[in-house]
Amino acid sequence: MLDRDRTIAHELTALGADWLPEEPLSVHTSLGVGGPADLVRLRDFRRVPDVIGYVERLDKPWRVLGGGSNLLVSDEPLGDTVLQLARPRNGLSFEGNRVEVPAAANLGTTVMECAKRNLGGMEGLIGVPGTIGGALRMNAGAYGIEIGPLVRRLTVYRASTRKIEVLKTEQVKFEYRHSSFAANDIMLSVLLELPERPYAEILEKVKLFNQKRRASQPINEKSAGCIFKNPPGFSAGKAIDELGLKGTRVGGAVISERHANFFVNGHQATARDFLTLIDMVRDRVRKAYGVELEEEVIIWRS
Ligand code: EPU
Repeated sequence: MLDRDRTIAHELTALGADWLPEEPLSVHTSLGVGGPADLVRLRDFRRVPDVIGYVERLDKPWRVLGGGSNLLVSDEPLGDTVLQLARPRNGLSFEGNRVEVPAAANLGTTVMECAKRNLGGMEGLIGVPGTIGGALRMNAGAYGIEIGPLVRRLTVYRASTRKIEVLKTEQVKFEYRHSSFAANDIMLSVLLELPERPYAEILEKVKLFNQKRRASQPINEKSAGCIFKNPPGFSAGKAIDELGLKGTRVGGAVISERHANFFVNGHQATARDFLTLIDMVRDRVRKAYGVELEEEVIIWRS
């Protein structure tokens, strides 16, 4: 470690955070691609404003990383400092049919922990990779369930006020794969209200959705979920499939044989491979259907 890094690491430790200089982001993304960036891992979310104050004095912009499961990071060094919440030590806290969940908790684990307390309503989200924070930001959804409507209260670091704020549902807009948060707002914790259901019933649904997902999505390969949003009344996956593009490859990036809106890392893919494949597919769909596909995956360019 350089002297400068040692100093930063020391000062951040005092703020409850870790300094990981030039961390390869490829190990933090489900696609397995991404160049290096300085990473700050926050262990105590009450210290977020202090840590951000410190990071800003390093004179580089910063951005927030969740579970990295819906993210395509460029191959070149990022330049920006990346902030990530550490996995929470304290778990979920239940109160009747409400549960407070730390944003860095895993979404799938949360679904199952709630199930054990006879709280359902999130079964469709089983198998959606990533954190609760990422799910909130993207308003993650599957099989007719979205996380947004389950939210009752949110604790967020607001980039605009530079403070931790507690927001009511009415203060946030959740839309299809989109929320009204600013790019550098940081989800810290959420209160969800869930319908009470017998554990066995929840488990049955979870099994069903797992089967559905296994049959239609490449769950054991490195992907970022669906690459494109579905425009209203149009299925991106169906269109890409109809164009015969399954199996198309650019370098190590391949259009999944199982679901055409999933692009997988076949072998040693680069971000450039994925970006080229995305542009190529968008072009083909535009020419064939007159529809402009918009990415669902978040792209970080350096
Ligand atoms: N289809 C094909 N070929 C394919 C893929 C799909 O013909 O290669 C057809 C299917 O047979 C079906 C239609 O297209 O008739 C829709 O496919 P599917 O049911 O798989 O759903 P999707 O619209 O492609 C959406 C979400 C998924 C979510 C599933 C299940 C988006 C962009 N995708 O996929 O979410 O898991 O529904 O609810 O909204 C994600 O957000 O990353 C994601 C994967």
